[in-house]
Amino acid sequence: MEEESAFSREELSWLLAQSKVPRPLIFDEGALKILDQRILPGKIVYIDANSWEEVALAIKSMMVRGAPMIGIAGAYGMALAATKDPGNIERAAIELKKTRPTAINLSWAVDRVLRIAMENPEGAISEAREIEAEDHERSFLIAKNGSSLIKPGMRVLTHCNSGSLAAGGFGTALGCIIWAKLIDGKEISVFNTETRPYLQGSRLTSFELASADVPDTLIPDMAASLLLSKRMVDLVIVGADRVARNGDVANKVGTLQLAISAHHYGIPFYVASPRTTFDMSIESGKEIPIEERPAEELVIFNGIKMAPDGISVFNPAFDVAPFNLVTGYITESGVIGAWKIPYLD
Ligand code: MRU
Repeated sequence: MEEESAFSREELSWLLAQSKVPRPLIFDEGALKILDQRILPGKIVYIDANSWEEVALAIKSMMVRGAPMIGIAGAYGMALAATKDPGNIERAAIELKKTRPTAINLSWAVDRVLRIAMENPEGAISEAREIEAEDHERSFLIAKNGSSLIKPGMRVLTHCNSGSLAAGGFGTALGCIIWAKLIDGKEISVFNTETRPYLQGSRLTSFELASADVPDTLIPDMAASLLLSKRMVDLVIVGADRVARNGDVANKVGTLQLAISAHHYGIPFYVASPRTTFDMSIESGKEIPIEERPAEELVIFNGIKMAPDGISVFNPAFDVAPFNLVTGYITESGVIGAWKIPYLD
């Protein structure tokens, strides 16, 4: 993206410096420092991942999460495989891709580094760094484009966490909100869902909004329809883990209910995501694999059992909202309708 760069190097570092949220990944001295997002906001702790196996474990166990950030972690995992365990590079790619199957960014980034590493193992590190740099730029463009939809005084609802803990820059959906306040100076307010069972909303999104001084009200997931029905929300913006060619969107479970309610009450529903989240190889959302998480994440809370022994559990991490419920897609190339997705390059 070097020659098409929309921001100068100075602008990018100025923008990055505006965020008070700790960076989720730092690649340094042949190790990937990973912010353990499972213990945020209470504790800021980094672990050192020294091998691709440790990166895979960190992704699987949700230390690092969010579609673009999982992709960046996967890219650095491949860089570690190429430089420290080249004989197992193809196995590393397979294993890393298996850790979180829904977000397409992961397999996209892993395959991109694999292609380079097969010819030049040393090139894998710079390719991973390039993937990260591109993601910062894409995210800032998404944030800038999305901010144009947010008018002063608007009340925006978002779900899960799509900020700088989940993607480059200020993030994707949350990035639009942060840009509107921090860069464009608009007085806006946010409702964000707690996002059960992992609480990415209350633990991470509320933390990011507080860091940017955006007035935020936390709501139970199941209260979203009530707010929409009472016209307490002007705009819904969510991120995506994968968007099919027809515009169907896989995102954190609960997104489908939100999209249905927003459509019912005539509230605009936007999806913010980079080109790397669009999967042109699949026609519709029916082909998107939905990750199922372990039962413990649902039945054990803070070490306390919340359901009887032996309970049968279905714990999908994502759902798919059909394209006809989506008002528009906020991308680095602008805000587009579903019909334009096949023409994204
Ligand atoms: O299971 P997670 O926390 O990785 O899920 C994250 C989301 O669903 C985000 O909304 C999504 O990745 C898109 S925004 C970067």
